[in-house]
Amino acid sequence: MADTIIIPGEYRNLKQLEPARLHVDGKEYELPVVEGTEGERAIDITNLRKASGHVTLDAGYQNTGSCTSNITYIDGEKGILRYRGIPIEQLAERASFVETAYLLVHGKLPNRAEMRKFRNLLTQHSMIHEDMLTFFHGLPREAHPMAILSSMVNSLSIYYPEVASTGGEGNGEELDIAVARLISKVRTIAAFSYKKSIGEPFVYPTNYTYCANFLHMMFSSPIQKYKLNHVVIRALNLLLILHADHEQNCSTSTVRLVGSSKVNLYASICAGICALWGPLHGGANQKVIETLEYIRDNNIPVKKYIEMVKDKDKPQRLMGFGHRVYRNYDPRAKIIKKTCTEVLEHMKSDDPLLDIALELEEIALHDQYFIDRKLYPNVDFYSGIIYKAIGIPTNMFTVMFAIGRLPGWIAQWKEMHDSAPFKIGRPRQIYNGPLIRDYVPIDERE
Ligand code: CMC
Repeated sequence: MADTIIIPGEYRNLKQLEPARLHVDGKEYELPVVEGTEGERAIDITNLRKASGHVTLDAGYQNTGSCTSNITYIDGEKGILRYRGIPIEQLAERASFVETAYLLVHGKLPNRAEMRKFRNLLTQHSMIHEDMLTFFHGLPREAHPMAILSSMVNSLSIYYPEVASTGGEGNGEELDIAVARLISKVRTIAAFSYKKSIGEPFVYPTNYTYCANFLHMMFSSPIQKYKLNHVVIRALNLLLILHADHEQNCSTSTVRLVGSSKVNLYASICAGICALWGPLHGGANQKVIETLEYIRDNNIPVKKYIEMVKDKDKPQRLMGFGHRVYRNYDPRAKIIKKTCTEVLEHMKSDDPLLDIALELEEIALHDQYFIDRKLYPNVDFYSGIIYKAIGIPTNMFTVMFAIGRLPGWIAQWKEMHDSAPFKIGRPRQIYNGPLIRDYVPIDERE
């Protein structure tokens, strides 16, 4: 064997371990192995192609670390989730969503003055530009709220072009305002899209706290003011906190990938919202309730439904079950399940959908198919039951996920821009199509 070819690494800020050796085409390559603060290890292959002509193939990025990040830590085997080092259980129990959003975006919990300033910014920027209301007026009543949300967020770059033109470089005060504007306005847009769908006049934001303001805009009307309820406000805070970030999931990776072209923050977030909409990602919460209703309305025995989702010839899966990263349990689902019972008790609701969900979970957790594949309830399995109990319509569930995930998307976008110069996201492929062949004019084709 010839001399070992040493491939230089890119991640020099990470702890360096004993290098890995790769044998290919009769040559030996030495690749750097790096370790993160929680002991996660990676082989740095950034320069592999340059040195050896090989790329790595990894459909669905099941084994690819696309970045290093200081924001969220997940250990899927142990069911651990932490934002900026703080366990999700502590945030869920003690923090507010606004505090959590600050933590994610700025990397630290706010002190009193910072919290006051952030809250004031959220209040100041809660209204949407009056001209944007013409968009709402032109929309069909049955438009899906996720389509409205993504379109409206993208259109913010028309009305607030300062950030649109910076491509992320305008940090500091300007970015703080853009961040507050987005977090605050998304809530207003979401509530307005609901009002549009039921044909009621829009209710403008007021100076309530974040979740109370949202509930007010959703459920107050010119003839009746919504009666705020601390259990509902707390439950909403909790749900948003639990969704606030989840490292490099499909929508977050999309925000980073789109943002890596240096397009503006609003366009990057719009792309994330669209990615979230799919039923395998954030759209699952809507599908869970639709599944439970389907089982209830058609009187389908839960056992029979479980057999259906195991049948590979049938397209459906058990929505709200399974996760790419969690292989033991999803810590968010555990917290939500507890809150779900509390909220239903408080609302004096005995929603039969909860009983169906509990039965589905019970049967699935003891079924060999689910055991073998390590499939457990995820964050979306019980969240819809809470949303339903507090009056949020089913087609708004994924919008609620988006409101929650927004601080995470922003934090990840900001982290990428702060680490400039960063590379545009541009994966490779292995072409497996026809070899070169000649164009044949249409008259001569068979
Ligand atoms: N119901 C039935 N079978 C399932 C399910 C499910 N929910 N999830 C995975 N499987 C099976 C799948 O058919 C495959 O079986 P086999 O090995 O025999 O081919 C095996 O489990 C592995 O599945 P996979 O699709 O390779 O796993 P993945 O990591 O690529 O997908 C997932 C993860 C979340 C897309 C998937 O579990 C799923 O489709 N779940 C239902 C949708 C859902 O609840 N999504 C919300 C995820 S949590 C919120 C979020 O962060 O997005």
